[in-house]
Amino acid sequence: MFFSKIDNPIGLDLSDLSVKLVQLNRKGPGLELSAYADVSLPGGLLEHDLIQNREALVDYLKRVFSNKDSHKGKFAGRSIVASIPESKAFVRVINLPSLMPEELVTAVPIEAEQYIPLPIGEMQVDWQVVARSDAGLQVFITATPKSYIEELLSVFSDAGLVVQSIEAESAAIVRALLKKSDNPPGTLILDMNASRTSFILYVANSIQFTSSIPMAGNALTDAIAQRLKLNKTEAEKIKRHYGISSYSLPGEKVSPETATTISEVVIALEPVLNNLYDEMKNTIKFYEEHNLSGTSGAVIQEIIICGGTSKLPNLSEYLQGKIQADNEFSRRGIKVSLGDAWRNIIENGPPPFSQREALSYTTALGLALRNYEIS
Ligand SMILES: Nc1ncnc2c1ncn2[C@@H]1O[C@H](COP(=O)(O)OP(=O)(O)OP(=O)(O)O)[C@@H](O)[C@H]1O
Ligand SMILES: [Mg+2]
Repeated sequence: MFFSKIDNPIGLDLSDLSVKLVQLNRKGPGLELSAYADVSLPGGLLEHDLIQNREALVDYLKRVFSNKDSHKGKFAGRSIVASIPESKAFVRVINLPSLMPEELVTAVPIEAEQYIPLPIGEMQVDWQVVARSDAGLQVFITATPKSYIEELLSVFSDAGLVVQSIEAESAAIVRALLKKSDNPPGTLILDMNASRTSFILYVANSIQFTSSIPMAGNALTDAIAQRLKLNKTEAEKIKRHYGISSYSLPGEKVSPETATTISEVVIALEPVLNNLYDEMKNTIKFYEEHNLSGTSGAVIQEIIICGGTSKLPNLSEYLQGKIQADNEFSRRGIKVSLGDAWRNIIENGPPPFSQREALSYTTALGLALRNYEIS
């Protein structure tokens, strides 16, 4: 959804537990990051992407912008590009016969109605033709409850923000991490946050399908807290330090106590990571078996992880190892890697923070990048 065109709007990634802001500027032939912020949200404002306390959320958003101590760099203006969370955006590619653009206006909602679990009249439906062939059109649709969008827009407006556009967060993540011109192979992106992990299936140069589960970094911290009998702050520290390590860290001499801690952390994390792995595998199998893209056989060849939880030390290596040890997947040569949210942004000079740190800002960076893609 596109409302007005104002230069360099701020990418604003609002979720249950944090607000992240990113602003980009043109610099020479490329772009630079001129300001960013990551502010945690107190509980009770948003839950499972639903607004629980509207007034408090408006106040908090105002404070996020006025409290300059939490900003790196200086934000200009109050124009934003915002995202619709995976749980609220129904995203799918549908096949249609070769129609004229004016015919699509009526055909898309009628066709979309078959796939959308809610009455089409209550949904805001956006679409984009992603492929044309003799067989017809492939159309990427996003459907979101109108009431949800209206509520979100009114919150932003009351917080003094001007919404330039709002889009599915999966679209922002794909914009940040992939390059269409590279013709990426079939890819599954895992966006792992604190309360939620989203799965984005990208095949044949388009998002095909997305889903999400309420399991991510918090579940890992809780598992460590429980197993090692620690409070959440201590467990969080241990999680970030050891991650899902092998028993000795490279270059580190390990005392017997540390070795015990490391193995206890692995024991705590494995059940949660196994669940995540199973969900990931089911997502890939569901997609491939239902032939959702119209292609047959195995299509996913790459897995890219992003979001704060993807910074867990050794996570990509761990997932790669699980794939190699899995009879169903081991022969397919699926590659697991960390997302690089700088690849479409910084074209000259070093980025202001590492590729690893940028994993937390993937959605916000993708939202801010939208302005430069459509201009
Ligand atoms: N170095 C690290 N190692 C492991 N986990 C980390 C690391 N840094 C951050 N995390 C985890 O990342 C999560 C926060 O990620 P992110 O900022 O993407 O989510 P959020 O926006 O706060 O949550 P949500 O989107 O679910 O509301 C937390 O669970 C945190 O523990
Ligand atoms: Mg978030």
